[in-house]
Amino acid sequence: MGKHNLLIYTTIALVLLFLVSRSPNKSQPQETHHRRRLKIRSHFPFSPPSDPHHHHDPPPAFDPLVADIELAREDRQWEHLYYQTHHDSDSDSASESPDSSPEPDHESRPEWEDFADAEDFLNDSERFNVTNRLMLLFPRIDVDPTDGLASKSELTQWSLQQSRREAMHRSQREMKTHDKDGDGFVTFAEYEAPSWVRSADNTSFGYDFGWWKEDHFNASDADGDGRLNITEFNDFLHPADTSNPKLILWLCKEEIRERDRDKDGKVNFEEFFHGIYDLIRNYVEPHDTDEHESDDSNEASAKMLFVLLDKDGDGYLSDVELLPVIEKLHPPEHYYAIQQTNHILHQIHTNADAFEADITSPDGSADGDKDGRLSLAEMIESPYVFYTGVFSEDEDSGDYVVHDEFR
Ligand SMILES: *[C@@H]1O[C@H](CO)[C@@H](O)[C@H](O)[C@H]1NC(C)=O
Ligand SMILES: *[C@@H]1O[C@H](CO)[C@@H](O)[C@H](O)[C@H]1NC(C)=O
Ligand SMILES: *[C@@H]1O[C@H](CO)[C@@H](O)[C@H](O)[C@H]1NC(C)=O
Ligand SMILES: *[C@@H]1O[C@H](CO)[C@@H](O)[C@H](O)[C@H]1NC(C)=O
Ligand SMILES: *[C@@H]1O[C@H](CO)[C@@H](O)[C@H](O)[C@H]1NC(C)=O
Repeated sequence: MGKHNLLIYTTIALVLLFLVSRSPNKSQPQETHHRRRLKIRSHFPFSPPSDPHHHHDPPPAFDPLVADIELAREDRQWEHLYYQTHHDSDSDSASESPDSSPEPDHESRPEWEDFADAEDFLNDSERFNVTNRLMLLFPRIDVDPTDGLASKSELTQWSLQQSRREAMHRSQREMKTHDKDGDGFVTFAEYEAPSWVRSADNTSFGYDFGWWKEDHFNASDADGDGRLNITEFNDFLHPADTSNPKLILWLCKEEIRERDRDKDGKVNFEEFFHGIYDLIRNYVEPHDTDEHESDDSNEASAKMLFVLLDKDGDGYLSDVELLPVIEKLHPPEHYYAIQQTNHILHQIHTNADAFEADITSPDGSADGDKDGRLSLAEMIESPYVFYTGVFSEDEDSGDYVVHDEFR
């Protein structure tokens, strides 16, 4: 396992620790119903620049209104960081600062002026009425087909749309700082790695990044006009989610470079087995962590896969030979959208089961047939499942927080 995995495990451990320490005091009896607790994200890992081909954005908010609040807050923190780093390094760059009016244009601005008020706003069940929100959102989710049920694929599409929207917002923000002449394109000359990346010691991550290098830039330049428009720039920052074949191949090249411990330019079986294969297996069976039991059969199936991928049979994997599995090594947003949807459905089922067990009222169950399709009524019955990032209920919060571990 590489340092990268170690980092992930460490992060997960920390997150768990954090969650445990924050978990509500269960011994305290509750004053019934949803006591809402505000949990707007207030820490934003600005890791995308340091390693975009391994970076993953936090899960998107289900409700675009919540997303706007979170993004506005994130923007603010980002600007702060931006000014700090740029004032530390060079003082004359103030003129190229991002302008601070990222105004969401698709939905009318709610009644919060400042982000401090945003907390109160979300926490106030009269102003932010989750029932009304879900009623408003449902017709936008139930579109394929419009049949009064939100299917698994509709929910996945919805989640995907939300994460793409958030990603694009971040890319636009990032682009403003690079597009120095403001013509809507970033040229390689305009592009410059953020100073907090440049100053980072690349060996501390176990391999040298190449992300800001010219070949990454060129690969993102789909039409080859020597500059990136916002679409291309967004791809540049999210190569795992691109449909640009040049960029996908670049991702394979990076993967080879990273795994190629003996630096012969190719990946042999050992390098494949201890690195790439683990990722693929995790992708296929996310919960199988039972490594020691089946070491032999593991190696056997790794060998099989290796031989399959090694099309020219030279005993090494090249970048092109990695293409069939690159999506498993760098899962696109769609993968996470499916996970998020499964999680939502799982929560709904769990709630429904608990509800039935407690009250034995069959007609009150959400998605009782568990066919993965939700009616609006079912959604309204478990509204906080859709706002896990923001609220946690006092009851069941142990279940609710699992969400964050996905990423
Ligand atoms: C949110 O609401 C709860 C109860 O309704 C209250 O105890 C809590 O202080 C509120 N939090 C904020 C940040 O307003
Ligand atoms: C939220 O809206 C629904 C439907 O409009 C209404 O029945 C409910 O009372 C509202 N909840 C609150 C807390 O205002
Ligand atoms: C980063 O890696 C490259 C290539 O391995 C190396 O030449 C360069 O000195 C490294 N930079 C730092 C700051 O360590
Ligand atoms: C990137 O493309 C430009 C032309 O647009 C070319 O001059 C440059 O050599 C290319 N760089 C790399 C690393 O391929
Ligand atoms: C950016 O350029 C690509 C072609 O490289 C094109 O498909 C895309 O529509 C352009 N995006 C915008 C926003 O113009």
